Amino acid sequence: MKHTSALLILTATLGLGALVVQAATVSENYEVNCASCHGKDGKGETKAGRKAKTKDLTDKAYQAKFSDADAIKAMKEGMKDETGKERMKSYADKLSDDDMKTLVALIRDFAK
Ligand code: HEC
Repeated sequence: MKHTSALLILTATLGLGALVVQAATVSENYEVNCASCHGKDGKGETKAGRKAKTKDLTDKAYQAKFSDADAIKAMKEGMKDETGKERMKSYADKLSDDDMKTLVALIRDFAK
């Protein structure tokens, strides 16, 4: 009996851990990978953002210029300027397809 309850507690703890990790993932991913340029609020008013020349993700007109697929492509392949200089790097090795999808949703929320 003792053994069973210990196992139950362990299962519950692990289950809860997984939930917490999932809930934090998209904002964590954004904070860790994107906020340095795009800013916590999406406006891109950070030092690195100004340097890379990010645009205001809270601006509906700007958001209308790229599709969800474009946004995912930008994360997968990065973005270069017309001279080939990197402005945003590729996150293909850091983020899964699901991570990218949830990040698009988070970004879309900036302009609501
Ligand atoms: C080094 C700075 C930098 C970082 C870090 C960065 N970006 Fe960007 N991002 C840019 C720049 C610069 C642009 C291009 C702005 C423009 O269109 O002129 C851009 C554009 C975008 C676009 C618009 C894509 C399009 O098709 O126009 C999306 C969406 C985006 N970033 C999402 C993200 C996400 C999500 C992350 C984190 C995983 C991220 N960015 C990290 C600099 C950055």
